[in-house]
Amino acid sequence: MSAAPTLTGNPTIRPFRPEDRDRLAEICLLTAAGGGDATGVYSDDALMPEVWCLPYLAYAPDLAFVVADGHDVLGYVLGVADTADFIDWYAREWAPGFRERHPRVGPPTGRNPGYTEADLLESGGDPERMRIAELAEYPAHLHIDLVPAAQGRGLGRALIDRLRAELAARGVRAVHLSMDPGNTPARAFYDRLGFHELPSSRKDAPLLGIATS
Ligand SMILES: CC(C)(COP(=O)(O)OP(=O)(O)OC[C@H]1O[C@@H](n2cnc3c(N)ncnc32)[C@H](O)[C@@H]1OP(=O)(O)O)[C@@H](O)C(=O)NCCC(=O)NCCS
Repeated sequence: MSAAPTLTGNPTIRPFRPEDRDRLAEICLLTAAGGGDATGVYSDDALMPEVWCLPYLAYAPDLAFVVADGHDVLGYVLGVADTADFIDWYAREWAPGFRERHPRVGPPTGRNPGYTEADLLESGGDPERMRIAELAEYPAHLHIDLVPAAQGRGLGRALIDRLRAELAARGVRAVHLSMDPGNTPARAFYDRLGFHELPSSRKDAPLLGIATS
C-alpha cells in the first residue's frame, strides 16, 4: 500500500464511482493517524475505513467526490446531507454488522495511538456520537482526505467547494465536521477556508461548521 509519489497529469474532481471504493478505503487508512499513515497502528487495517469511509459510500455515494489523476485516485470528500437520517441508517444497517465483524479489541500492535482501538470500536458501533447539539443548523457533515502527493495544491479547497455547492443545490444550508485535535495542519486548512467553531466544540473534540453558500 502506498501513496502516489508524484502527480502525472492534471488532477480533476469527479463524482465517486463504485470501482473507487477500495482505493478510498486505502486513502482513509493512509491519512488516518492525525493526517498521516495509520497502516499497522490497529490490529486490523480494515477498521479505520469501516468507521470513517465505507459507511458514507454505502449511504450517500452521490455525495462523494474524488480527485483523479488519470486512472489514479488521490483523495476524496465524503458527505451526508442529513446527519440525523444517517444516524438512523447507521444504527439499522451498519452498526450491527460492524459489531459482529469486530467484537473485541485485537492483539496489541506495539503502537499506542491516542485514539485507541477501543475508541475506534466504540465509534464504529455508536452512531449516536454524531448527534451534535447543532444538527438543526448544521445538518450535513463531511470527511476529507488527500494522499501526501496531492496535498498543498488547492485540491482540498476544490473538494470542499464541490461538496458545498452540491449541498447548497439540495437546499442544505450548512455543514459541519469533527476532527482530531492534534491535526493542526488540517485545522489551519479549515480556518483558512472560513470554518468556525460550533458552540459545543471542545478543545479535545473540535467541531467546526460553515454555510454551504
Ligand atoms: C487537510 C487537507 C484536506 C487540506 O487539503 P489541501 O489540498 O492540502 O489544502 P489546499 O491546498 O486546498 O489549501 C487550501 C487553503 O488552505 C491553506 N492551507 C492548507 N493547509 C494549510 C496549513 N497546514 N497551514 C496553513 N494553511 C494551510 C492553503 O494555503 C490554502 O490557502 P489559499 O487557498 O488561500 O491559498 C489535506 O492536506 C489532507 O488530506 N491532509 C491529510 C488528511 C487530513 O488531515 N484530513 C483531514 C482530517 S480532519
